[in-house]
Amino acid sequence: MRRRLNIALIGAGRIGQVHAATIANRVVTARLCGVYDPVLSAAKSMADRLGISKVAPSADAIFQDDVVDAVLICTPTDTHAPLIIAAAKAGKHIFCEKPVALDLATTDAAIAAAKLAGVHFQIGFNRRWDSNYARVRAAIAGGEIGSLRTLHITSRDSGPPPISYIKTSGGIFLDMTIHDWDMFRFLSGSEIEQVYVQGGVMVDAAIGTAGDIDTHITLVRFESGTLGVVENCRQAGYGYDQRVEAFGSLGAIQTENNRPNSAVISTVDGVRHALPHHFFMTRYTDAYACEIEGFVDSVIQGKPVAVGGDDGRRALAVGLAAKLSYTEQRPVRVSEVG
Ligand SMILES: NC(=O)c1ccc[n+]([C@@H]2O[C@H](COP(=O)([O-])OP(=O)(O)OC[C@H]3O[C@@H](n4cnc5c(N)ncnc54)[C@H](O)[C@@H]3O)[C@@H](O)[C@H]2O)c1
Repeated sequence: MRRRLNIALIGAGRIGQVHAATIANRVVTARLCGVYDPVLSAAKSMADRLGISKVAPSADAIFQDDVVDAVLICTPTDTHAPLIIAAAKAGKHIFCEKPVALDLATTDAAIAAAKLAGVHFQIGFNRRWDSNYARVRAAIAGGEIGSLRTLHITSRDSGPPPISYIKTSGGIFLDMTIHDWDMFRFLSGSEIEQVYVQGGVMVDAAIGTAGDIDTHITLVRFESGTLGVVENCRQAGYGYDQRVEAFGSLGAIQTENNRPNSAVISTVDGVRHALPHHFFMTRYTDAYACEIEGFVDSVIQGKPVAVGGDDGRRALAVGLAAKLSYTEQRPVRVSEVG
């Protein structure tokens, strides 16, 4: 294996641009060797900006390219599984954005293809790599706060994505809360047993017309007996609100929002500091770098990925249970959906 992993990017949109810039500027163990996007201008402008030598004419051209060791799939969710299966057949290692797919059968087919090909397959649950959440996980796993009683996650976007995105994203429970389902599992070390959703459309009626909701509070029960609450909203005027609190028999641990600077201004009018980071691109910059470094290390050193297909599947199953809970207005056990 080469010392630097040759990675090709598929999908040069919002998250693709974040990952491409991360690899180009921060990941010394990898090199971007190609990019494909059906919107040629998006691929070309990324290639020019970051010095990527090849703009591929198709995803297939990337899969057939012997120089490519691994692919980063950053396309709309409904295209992930076919791309994963094709990449696996071509023997490429795979990093794919969340969620793997919008249903369990398609997710299983993608996981099976990667397994059969013997390639590394990592899912883009970037929050696992954030230092705040890693500290909460360490406190819980190390017994610092005793036995875990409750977990609260607040996760509000600064603004909603375009309606065109919402139509293909699988909706709030599979697109946005998918990170929180994974965080619950990661932080607690326990599987989610049951969810009960209350939600509605409070941000934009067009989101409701597109078949989704934009705000919800969900009660969670874990197999361990721990209770959880997650609150999501697609719009928070003051920025990207990302906080966690864990409460146990010996105490509690909580994280605050990260801000672009830590300055505190005190005057006779009051005490002020900067708003939280505006969105995921700046809030999770370090986490994105760590997750790509982790993926590259796993491939180069031949060790298992930290967050793989099974984690993607389990988070998706909880999301599907939440969808059912919202539709039928009742608590739903995750085992009901698989
Ligand atoms: N982990 C995170 O923090 C995070 C953040 C945002 C989005 N995402 C996930 O990343 C994925 C992409 O989201 P986004 O916000 O970047 O979307 P986006 O619409 O901004 O970008 C998608 C890009 O993929 C291209 N594309 C469409 N079909 C393609 C195909 N078949 N082959 C190659 N390229 C194709 C589009 O032209 C576009 O440039 C989604 O699955 C989303 O859930 C993850």
